[in-house]
Amino acid sequence: MNTRDTLKINEKGHLEIGGADCTTLAKQFGTPLYVFDEAYIRRMMRIYQDTIDREYGGNGLVLYASKAFSCEAIYAIAKQEKIGVDVVSGGELYTAMQAGFPAEKITMHGNNKLPREISYALDCGVGTIVLDEYSEADLLDAEAGKRGMIQNVLIRVNPGVEAHTHAYVQTATPDSKFGFSTQSGAAAEFTKYVLGKCNLRLMGYHCHIGSQIFEKQSFVLAVQKNIAFMAEMKKSLGFETRVLNMGGGFGIWYTDEDAKISVEGYREYLQALLEAVRAGCAAQGLSLPFINIEPGRSIVGEAGITLYTVGAIKEIPGIRKYLAIDGGMFDNPRYALYQSKYTAVLANRACDAPTEIVALAGKCCESGDLIGTQFNLPKANLGDIVAVLSTGAYNYSMASNYNRNFIPAAVLVKDGKAEYIVKPQTYEDLVRNDVIPARLK
Ligand SMILES: Cc1ncc(COP(=O)(O)O)c(C=O)c1O
Repeated sequence: MNTRDTLKINEKGHLEIGGADCTTLAKQFGTPLYVFDEAYIRRMMRIYQDTIDREYGGNGLVLYASKAFSCEAIYAIAKQEKIGVDVVSGGELYTAMQAGFPAEKITMHGNNKLPREISYALDCGVGTIVLDEYSEADLLDAEAGKRGMIQNVLIRVNPGVEAHTHAYVQTATPDSKFGFSTQSGAAAEFTKYVLGKCNLRLMGYHCHIGSQIFEKQSFVLAVQKNIAFMAEMKKSLGFETRVLNMGGGFGIWYTDEDAKISVEGYREYLQALLEAVRAGCAAQGLSLPFINIEPGRSIVGEAGITLYTVGAIKEIPGIRKYLAIDGGMFDNPRYALYQSKYTAVLANRACDAPTEIVALAGKCCESGDLIGTQFNLPKANLGDIVAVLSTGAYNYSMASNYNRNFIPAAVLVKDGKAEYIVKPQTYEDLVRNDVIPARLK
């Protein structure tokens, strides 16, 4: 199990998260259910900002990457913790605004921001917009001009760092839909272009090299490459970078194949990154930029678990045993997408020793609807509560109503007490936007 005091086994042999007994949560709120430990989320937000404050003179801001888990409550927590957020769509921005999040602390991303998203971001007064295309720079410049505004922007660059992670979550390899290559001359060309826009104020650069990365060296290398590029831009265009946003990507524990980084361990990742910024800028004679980082997974991933009930058990002799749960790819599509691995526990019998390897099958009409095939569990019975761990990131935010299943509710636990942060869906929710044209009636 993870190591951060989020999860415990209590005297009844039940799994606890944030001091709440998971079997009680399952009874009270039903399953499937996403459960988040508020203390863990806050601790992770703080460790990053505290590192910037202590080690970099406070000259930077953590932006929680809200794509990992977006709902009003998470923006409310980020607001209380006085950090910023990044958003990647009009929908995430709207959710943040509904939560009263300060727009000036929002950075907006997207490799194809829609005209309506650009207008909405300007109307909200979003602090920074990260540009990823020429047409977007044209549109943003025109829209900012219409409003008599000058919008702060960053350019998304691709420093060409291959982080050791799944191909689908690598974002800074030569073949990527994101960013402008610093090596090919594309980023330099685009810098010149953006500097020519009257209503855009270029503040610097953004990169995000991928997700679920454990090697500090990948981040250090990305910093070094960015700084070399920043020096080149200063020399060739006289452009001095004021903001460097290094994206997210810090890895988390899903199974014992992953490193277990302590909360303090994440501080060390950021220290290494900040040290590389300081050393690189000193070597190149650059002033230190304001730093942003955008951790998502490492803030909410291990803070969350999903509870399910075992509803059917099917053993195919000599092949596999399936435990069918009341969730599936509609609440966690990550196995279907990336063959992601997870750890599961029987929450009502957490002390029982594992005896068999089983697959957790979802209830969708897809053979590939699995949460995984290699869960080491005690022999399960119908009605047992399965807790899948480290599901706080990219589960709820990637969920769908496939097969018209409900996206599960989410609760936030603090000091053993749970409250809804996302209410359960109803059948009415599923048909809310459906229309039967008159000719079909
Ligand atoms: C631009 C950007 N920033 C931050 C993140 C967050 O990454 P992670 O959740 O791995 O920290 C992502 C993830 O895809 C991203 O694309």
